[in-house]
Amino acid sequence: MSHGKEFEKFLFFVYLLCMMRNSVLIAPSLLSADFSRMGEEVRRIQSCGGDWVHLDVMDGQYVPSISFGQKLVADLRKLTPLPFDVHLMTNNPEAHVRSFVEAGADYLTFHPETVRHAHRVTEQIRSLGAKAGVSLLPATPAFFLQELLPFVDLVLVMTVNPGFGGQKMIPQCLEKVRILADVKKEKNFGYRIAVDGGMNRFTAVDAVSAGAEVVVMGTAFFESADPAAEIDSIRGAIIV
Ligand code: DX5
Ligand code: ZN
Repeated sequence: MSHGKEFEKFLFFVYLLCMMRNSVLIAPSLLSADFSRMGEEVRRIQSCGGDWVHLDVMDGQYVPSISFGQKLVADLRKLTPLPFDVHLMTNNPEAHVRSFVEAGADYLTFHPETVRHAHRVTEQIRSLGAKAGVSLLPATPAFFLQELLPFVDLVLVMTVNPGFGGQKMIPQCLEKVRILADVKKEKNFGYRIAVDGGMNRFTAVDAVSAGAEVVVMGTAFFESADPAAEIDSIRGAIIV
């Protein structure tokens, strides 16, 4: 083989590695951050190589805890250009769509079990200029979303029951990631597949090989002595 051909092959290999490296997005979740230092925590996400900021909004009804609301999202919005991935774990999410988009949500994800007209809510989010996400509980089958998939930009597969950080991933949920990845490929849909709950350098690799494109990570990022290394080790492991 000529040197030219070998070099071309090498370049193609480098290109493939870059594509793989770029294909997984890491979204640290502020739920595990120190709430008394939220601004610094957002800057830490950015300096450690996080791709998105995941913001968990909890109302104390749909899930047991109350976290934070629009004001915090709006104030943090001024600190970083990173996309804000807002995960609504609330009843009646349609009542909050406009205010969270105005506060700075780029992606706004809701749980379709909580609304009467899920398609209307996805349209409401998109009409305001944000990307619409829907979330799947561990007990909800993938086909529950079947009719919504053409209309969403993100499917957030919960790999724990929502409500708390620091839980263990439920590995059976990854089967839904596989199904969603197959459907996406087959129908050429545009949604990204995210996983949320119990993600760390080991579980994330399984999730990505099942087809996850966005990894939400709370405890493993914020409780690490070296969060940048945590992100790098996930990206590194995925390349191998
Ligand atoms: C759980 C939230 C998650 C949470 C993940 O209900 O939706 O985003 O922050 O935290 P870890 O990564 O600790 O499981
Ligand atoms: Zn979340």
